[in-house]
Amino acid sequence: MKLQWELPLSAEGIDTELADGTPVKIRPISADDGPALDASFKRMSPRSRYLRFFTIRDELGAVMLENFTDIDHTLHRAWVVIDPATAGDAPGEEQGIGIAVARLIETSTPGVAEASLAVIDEYQQRGVGRLLLDLLTSTASIAGFEKLRFETLWENRGMRRLLGKLEAEHNKDLSDPTVLIYDLPIETAEDDTVGALYEILRWIAASQDDPPGSKVPEHND
Ligand SMILES: CC(C)(COP(=O)(O)OP(=O)(O)OC[C@H]1O[C@@H](n2cnc3c(N)ncnc32)[C@H](O)[C@@H]1OP(=O)(O)O)[C@@H](O)C(=O)NCCC(=O)NCCS
Repeated sequence: MKLQWELPLSAEGIDTELADGTPVKIRPISADDGPALDASFKRMSPRSRYLRFFTIRDELGAVMLENFTDIDHTLHRAWVVIDPATAGDAPGEEQGIGIAVARLIETSTPGVAEASLAVIDEYQQRGVGRLLLDLLTSTASIAGFEKLRFETLWENRGMRRLLGKLEAEHNKDLSDPTVLIYDLPIETAEDDTVGALYEILRWIAASQDDPPGSKVPEHND
């Protein structure tokens, strides 16, 4: 997979592809994306919705849809991934099915942003999460954040795998032992591409099938 990020992404976004060659578009979410987000949410299984929102939820509702789409792109940034080959007449899917969303929200702790990801079920385990994690870390880097914080359910094997590869530190949420809080340190970018490249290289270095969180051994021979 070849990634060429020019960050921050323009409103038109970028065209790239998944590891299996599926072309996708990634662009910042827009205030008109309510129907698209609603359609994507409805395509997620109850299990995936639960893993994302920690509660059983049948729909997002008008207020949440507005809060999630009509954002300032500074304190609250979000991106959608679209599969343009699936464009159709269904509401919100005229440009293609919205297959994933990533979100970055500044917290009241200086230098820390809260991040989240959601990929619809039929596109899971095809590298979308990894792609979006790269976008999140690269954006956080050029935006000057020092840490990305992910709250995830302990049972969320996908997120633990994804974050474990990046050696994020995690602690249990003391108020809820089913929740893990991962803090991912962010490297400062010297230019718009350094963060993304850094993460790709680090990912490659870590992809030796080590247990999540373990270090790649050094060879001194
Ligand atoms: C968790 C989630 C974001 C992962 O996204 P994804 O696109 O499926 O992840 P990727 O395909 O990039 O896979 C990344 C790694 O995680 C692994 N992985 C993904 N889902 C997994 C699962 N359910 N069980 C075990 N491993 C999993 C992949 O095998 C891959 O590991 P590898 O690089 O060693 O092969 C996605 O499954 C999702 O949106 N789930 C529902 C909502 C959610 O949990 N959101 C996170 C809330 S913070």
